[in-house]
Amino acid sequence: MPKKTENKNILCIGAGYVGGPTMAMIAKKCPDRKVTVVDINADRIKAWQSDKLPIYEPGLAEVVSETLNRNLFFSTDIDKAIEEADIIFVAVNTPTKTFGEGAGRAADLQYWEKTARQIKRCAKSDKIVVEKSTLPVRTAAAMRRVLSEGANGVNFEVLSNPEFLAEGTAIRDLEMPDRVLVGSAETPSGLAAREAVVDVYASWIPRERILTTNVWSSELSKIAANAFLAQRISSINALSELCEKTGANVSEVARAVGADSRIGPRFLKAGVGFGGSCFKKDILNLVYMCESEGLTEAADYWRSVVDMNEHQKNRFVKTMLRAMFNTVAGKRIALLGFAFKADTSDTRESPAISVAKLLVEEHAQVVVSDPHAIENAKRDLAGLEEFVTYERDPYKAVEGADAVAVLTDWSEYKNIDWQKVYDLMRKPAFVFDGRNFLGHAKLYSMGFHVYAIGIEPKSHFY
Ligand code: NAD
Ligand code: UGA
Repeated sequence: MPKKTENKNILCIGAGYVGGPTMAMIAKKCPDRKVTVVDINADRIKAWQSDKLPIYEPGLAEVVSETLNRNLFFSTDIDKAIEEADIIFVAVNTPTKTFGEGAGRAADLQYWEKTARQIKRCAKSDKIVVEKSTLPVRTAAAMRRVLSEGANGVNFEVLSNPEFLAEGTAIRDLEMPDRVLVGSAETPSGLAAREAVVDVYASWIPRERILTTNVWSSELSKIAANAFLAQRISSINALSELCEKTGANVSEVARAVGADSRIGPRFLKAGVGFGGSCFKKDILNLVYMCESEGLTEAADYWRSVVDMNEHQKNRFVKTMLRAMFNTVAGKRIALLGFAFKADTSDTRESPAISVAKLLVEEHAQVVVSDPHAIENAKRDLAGLEEFVTYERDPYKAVEGADAVAVLTDWSEYKNIDWQKVYDLMRKPAFVFDGRNFLGHAKLYSMGFHVYAIGIEPKSHFY
């Protein structure tokens, strides 16, 4: 293994939502290190080098502009970058497998394995290879095998350093993470490599927040953390349905439950369902791992978190239908927000996709509005142009609409002129708050029929 002080050159393979921001932060905090980010997607690399970054993330542009071409470099020359690197982070995508054994559940590891083979082909000196992507437990063992056979005397140490950033708060999360996790083999060379990676983060993160474990614990902890977070959301969403039946208010219940310091208040916000590229994929991966080990009950337990989420999205549209006299055919429905959460342009697994598609099945005329995600929305809803239009300006989107469904908690939707929205709409005017974040009493007093999640509807009809 290269000595710690020699591990100057850092490479990240994969310039996506994780690779880009993570490496920009390392470049910022470690100005003496050269940080290179490569990708097979030349357009993405070009965008990272431009004023219009490929992803929207508050604070990201500032970090990139401070470091770009100082010690942060983006490139498509993967072979050369591998040759020059000491520590190689791999942050390629690991989507759910869509074919063959484990289809719909297992992680598709083809991109990871291709990368490992490329590293082996190009490496002329020892490398520390770091799993940044989220991977099933024991992937590092498979990678070690791929890397070690036919390696021409080059040594590879495979570590796990999963990423816990959330989109929309990525820069803050990277700057002040709750923890950084580094898993390695507990051999002399594994421990030396672990120290080299810890050393990178120790430039700005207090040592006590840098946790070290064996590789398997690290790999599993990442998936477990996502499963726990998603499970809390499905738990509160499951309660939201009962609240609607009983007159309890889910926000009040969440506040009371979350006040228990053993439970805590975060991730207890009921809504139209969780989205994002990882929760569903990682839980399904966990389900698959449990099934592979014959752990049927554990697999069923985790699967129910995803099932509940699907139910919540369907339920939201059923509520819309019922409220609007059991038909939305030909009705104009404005979707305010398409990103899976505020402050990101990412729409992967956004509940808005399901809601839009279900409304199209009902022949509604859907207008999609979002401050940053319209381009992604167009890709997600390609082929539905007969029923879907796009309008950046929320006031234009709601013009003549029968209903507004707020699907992303963008602050601009909280602050728009709701009286103007009401005036622009056809009556009766419905608002469906899929994020439970609008002022419902005020909307009701303006004349809206207001439907939220886990809260009794405020309708002027009864
Ligand atoms: P992404 O799709 O945005 O980026 C992955 C990038 O890898 C793409 O640009 C793709 O072109 C590139 N790539 C694929 N194969 C390649 C190859 N052989 N060589 C070079 N580049 C290649 O994905 P992401 O959201 O950044 O997620 C990456 C990983 O990080 C996933 O495992 C994910 O689960 C995990 N993760 C994501 C987040 C998040 O907030 N998005 C947070 C934590 C962890
Ligand atoms: C999540 C985790 O929070 C990160 O720690 C993790 O690194 C990341 O997944 C990953 O592995 O990809 P992210 O998906 O970016 O981050 O965003 P979250 O803030 O977790 O929100 C996920 C979804 O849950 C969003 O649709 C959000 O609106 C929803 N949500 C969140 C709720 O419905 N209620 C809540 O109380 C919190």
